[in-house]
Amino acid sequence: MKRKVTKAIFPVAGLGTRFLPATKSIPKEIMTLVDRPLIQYAIDEARAAGIKEFIFVTSRGKGALEDYFDHANELEATLKRAKKTSLLKTLQATNMDSGAIAYIRQHKALGLGHAVWCARRLIGDEPFAVILTDDVIAAEKPCLKQMVEAYAETGGNMVAAMEVPPAKASAYGVLDIGEDMRSIVKVKGMVEKPKPEEAPSNLAVIGRYILTPAVMENLNRMKAGAGGEIQLTDAIAQEITKSNNVYGYRFRGQRFDCGSKAGFLQATVAFGLARPELHDEFAEFLGEMTQIRKAAE
Ligand code: UTP
Repeated sequence: MKRKVTKAIFPVAGLGTRFLPATKSIPKEIMTLVDRPLIQYAIDEARAAGIKEFIFVTSRGKGALEDYFDHANELEATLKRAKKTSLLKTLQATNMDSGAIAYIRQHKALGLGHAVWCARRLIGDEPFAVILTDDVIAAEKPCLKQMVEAYAETGGNMVAAMEVPPAKASAYGVLDIGEDMRSIVKVKGMVEKPKPEEAPSNLAVIGRYILTPAVMENLNRMKAGAGGEIQLTDAIAQEITKSNNVYGYRFRGQRFDCGSKAGFLQATVAFGLARPELHDEFAEFLGEMTQIRKAAE
């Protein structure tokens, strides 16, 4: 029987250099889309998928991230006294159970694969999810939930996948597709950031994974790969040869790369427009901006 996926690793130890100077003092994961930090979107998605244990791989300077998960007792009491029920609900929805969160330190930013490996003792002999908070996905059914359902059929290792324009494939891990079963594809190869002429397809890996303990074992022996970093992709790719059980999952939803400035701004517009209380005013403003731009051209 396949074991349920109840643990998720959130690697948040990166330096976030693309958002300097903001990330000098604010962890990237605390930056807000509308009114919620990126990390909250990731936590909500994990909870919806049945995750019960949340493991953060952090680094120096991420204190604000840990504080974010403290219960804000005084603030809750003030809102209660002022009968601000809706705000109180919003705040309480961010509370996590005692013992549900663990923090592990990555002492040096040696790559995503290394960050995941840092959590090995907390994972033990279980399948686990990995969520990259940079990738925010707007979807009717949360992306990780879609994957957990697909995983119940396939087992093995599963990576979220998305078609990208061929010219952009070299910015991602790219899948070499074996059998194509529409939403699920059997993977026969994986390359991290291939040269444009060497990309095996335009199906790119994005930041959601369900992995077996075997991948953790592979990480034990992993050497630095592309960019001098220990790559998660390489450790997953080893399972193609070893056990032939790696799948790509074409999720339904729109992914925003909130690790880049342009992606973050696009997400802000999309999530802002999706809020009923903001929609009209914001849409009107965007309409005006478009007209002004057109007139200037
Ligand atoms: P990125 O490649 O986006 O790196 O990492 P970064 O440091 O966050 O951002 P830039 O490129 O300097 O702007 C992808 C994910 O992997 C985590 C990051 O926190 C991010 O969630 N990561 C990366 C680690 O936890 N440790 C690492 O050594 C590298």
